[in-house]
This record gives sequence, structure tokens and C-alpha cells, in this order.
Amino acid sequence: MPIHTVETLGNLINGQWVTGQATYDVFHKYTGELIARAVKSSREEVDQAVHNVRETFLTKQLPPHRRYEILLQAAEIFRQRKEELALTIVREGGKVLKDARMEVERGIQTFIASAEEAKRLHGQEIPVQGQPGNDNKMAFTLRVPVGIVCAITPFNFPFNLVAHKIAPALAAGNTVILKPAGTTPQTAAKMADILLEAGLPPGFLNIVNGPGREIGQYLLEDPRISMYTFTGSTEVGKQIKAASGIRKVTLELGSNSPNIVHKDAPDLDKAARLCVTRGFANAGQACISVQRVYVHQDVYPTFVDKAVEVASALVTGNPELEETDIGPMISEREAERAEQWIQEAVQQGAIVACGGKRKGPVLDPTILTHALPSMKVVCQEVFAPVICIIAYQEMDEVMQAANDSNYGLQAGIFTSDLQLALRAARELDFGGVIINDVSTFRADIMPYGGVKDSGYGKEGPRYAVKEMTNEKLVVIDLGN
Ligand code: SIN
Repeated sequence: MPIHTVETLGNLINGQWVTGQATYDVFHKYTGELIARAVKSSREEVDQAVHNVRETFLTKQLPPHRRYEILLQAAEIFRQRKEELALTIVREGGKVLKDARMEVERGIQTFIASAEEAKRLHGQEIPVQGQPGNDNKMAFTLRVPVGIVCAITPFNFPFNLVAHKIAPALAAGNTVILKPAGTTPQTAAKMADILLEAGLPPGFLNIVNGPGREIGQYLLEDPRISMYTFTGSTEVGKQIKAASGIRKVTLELGSNSPNIVHKDAPDLDKAARLCVTRGFANAGQACISVQRVYVHQDVYPTFVDKAVEVASALVTGNPELEETDIGPMISEREAERAEQWIQEAVQQGAIVACGGKRKGPVLDPTILTHALPSMKVVCQEVFAPVICIIAYQEMDEVMQAANDSNYGLQAGIFTSDLQLALRAARELDFGGVIINDVSTFRADIMPYGGVKDSGYGKEGPRYAVKEMTNEKLVVIDLGN
């Protein structure tokens, strides 16, 4: 195995990387090698970073055309350093190389789309003269930044989900305090360095590092922060919503995405291939990962055979190798947890059609049949390379089964019947319904966000910029 240098990561405060009193270790997720030592921020160190980001907001401003140029320039540098960024994601996040490259490409698009939004921020004219008594009035609104945006980001997309928070926040004219996932701080640090190189003045983006939830708690208790944008578990999302009071929040939380494959699916092979490859991508660690696959009984046996064939051909192992399809999960503990869920399902009657075995943090892509709604692998978010293929007979029954979840991020349906597709679009209680592709589909410019326990508010640069600004009313009395 190659020996990588051990990087020291400070907190980013006012354009400088500042060391702290305590550190924690960051490991290569496949080899277990030590790859970085990052600051374990104390409350005082977090306070220092927030103080500076607030001072910056109060004393400095970037006009929209500068925000546009900086974000675009950052996208250009990302492109030049794409391979290095992808390798960082691979090592600290365990994502396989081809998917890491794709993530960087998506992050570039997120930055470009955010840059464009910086130029489109605008309010609207309010026709107050439509109400009698206001003939000498004129009114309009301005879109103004909320102030300090606190971004708390997850490990599963350490580049693009950081991009989805900081690029729109900066485009909207805010300053940002970022707390990246403790397991994946290096990618965010590189992104910040590139933003500084692209011309972002010091203090517009500060970063506080640390493992666990403590730092998030410090940030949550800080009244100087105007908005929280978070991607992670429903449990933490609920805590943020409860503790943030009347401040703004955007929460992108979990899901156990259903995908319906009807008997008239336009291309059954394609549906099986997509359900399997997208369900297992990033070792199933995506909020919109395919988890519950409902297949009409007429095509069920053919579909299961095809899915098992595709899954069995996937290469698992070292994420740094070009040929690897499925790498490690974020930790051995998480892989063990998923393995236990599989074993529990099997004890309750599920059948392992393929996979089910684990080697350290790598869990083989696993397909379960005969899974019941009460099993954890069905009713909870598995967040691992595990899919359940479940047979159904009637449309009413499958709509009900798909909706029978606390979650509601995205769902998919494969059918040739336009009426049925539109019925699913209406009846499936999800933030997004994807027709003839899987729930995992995401173009970064689209509105992205869930209902029920899957979240609150929307991401996607255009929608995030709206969440990260306030609409301020201006009324002018024109005199008599
Ligand atoms: C997520 O896990 O919420 C992000 C999925 C994606 O951006 O593809």
C-alpha cells in the first residue's frame, strides 16, 4: 500500500489555518492508514471563528459580479485539480475513484450554477397602488443575505454537498462558517484553499473542525448565526430544528427510497441495472439510494435474476483502483451494523439472493428478497449496499407500501403508462418523483429536498439562494 503523508489540518479563520489545542486522527477508509491530524475545536476556538465570520459580514461586502467571478474561478481551479480532489475523496471518504471523479465534476457544476445565481438575485415590484389610498406610494422588495450561514456537512459527498451549501451561501452575499464531517475534513479544506486562491477575501468562509457532535452543539448555541444548513441524520436534523428557534434552517435528512418497477417498464434490463448500480453506488451511502424495490409479480423472477447477475459482477475492494465499483463503508462499525441488520432480516424470513458477506469495512452488495415491511432493512434507512426486492400485485397496494415510511425524499417508478406515471407523481408522498429512472437521480440544478422526516427546505443553487436570503420590503411615499 502507498504511504501517504500525514497532513495537519487547522481551523480556517480569516484566511489562515490556525492550529488548536487538541487534535484527532483521520484515517484512510480502506487501508486504515493515518492520513491527517485535524484540530478538535474547543468552544473558544469555535467562538473565535464565528466572531471573525461575523465581523467580516458586518464590515466587508462583495458585489454580486465579484461573487460570480470568484465562484467561477474556483470552478476552473477545481477542474485543473480534479484528480487530486478525487483522490482526497477516495482516501478519506472511501468512495471509489470513478464515483469520486464524478462527484468533483458535479461539484464544479454546483459552483457554476451558484455563480450564475449571484447575478440573478433580485426582488420584485409590489403593486401597492392596486389598493385604494396608496396612489402616491411605490413599493418593491430587495433580496438581502441572511447574514452568517452555518453549514454542517456529511461524509458521503465531502465535495459536492459542501459545494451545495457554501457556494449558494456566498453567491447570496452571506459569510459562512463550515463544519465538515469529522471523518472527511481534507476535501473541504482543499475547497477552501481553492476559494482563497480564486480571490475569496479572508473571513468570508471560516472552517471549524472536529469529530462528533460537540462542535455542532457549540454552533447551534451561538446566537450570532442566522441560518443553519445541514445534511445528515433525521435525529440531528430534529435537534437543529428544535434548537434554532426562529432562525432559518434547511435540513436534508435520510430516506429509505422506494422504486417501483411495473410490469410495463419500458426496459426491464435497464431498470434492474439502474436499481442495482445506483443502489450500491457509494456503498449505498446516499440519502436517495435505492433501498426498497417493488417489482410487479409478473416480471419479478426475471427482474431478480437480472439484478443478481448485475450485482454479482460488481468489483468490491480498494477504492483507489480504477476497476473497483464498491469500496468500503465509512467505518467498520457501520459495516458491522448493516451486516447485523441483514442477519436480523434473515432470522425473520428474508432470503439473501446475493452478497451478505463483510470483509472489514467492505460489505458485499447485498440483495434481499422476501423482506417484510417491519424489518429494519425495509422500514429504516439502511445507508449501506443493501437493497430489498419485494413483489406486488396491485397499484393501490404498492403506492401504499411506498408511502408507508416516515421518510419522503425521492422515489422512482418505471412504467410505459403515462397515466400511471402521473398518478405516481401525484400520490407518492416524496420531495421528488423520478419516472423511468431511479430515486438516486439528481441533477445539481434541480430542487432537492424531502418531506416528512426527510427534511425541510430545498437545495439546488437557485433554491438554496432563495433560502439563504430574506426578501426586504421598501415603500416610498412619492409626495402629492
Ligand atoms: C445525499 O446523500 O443527500 C446526496 C445525494 C446526491 O447528491 O447525489
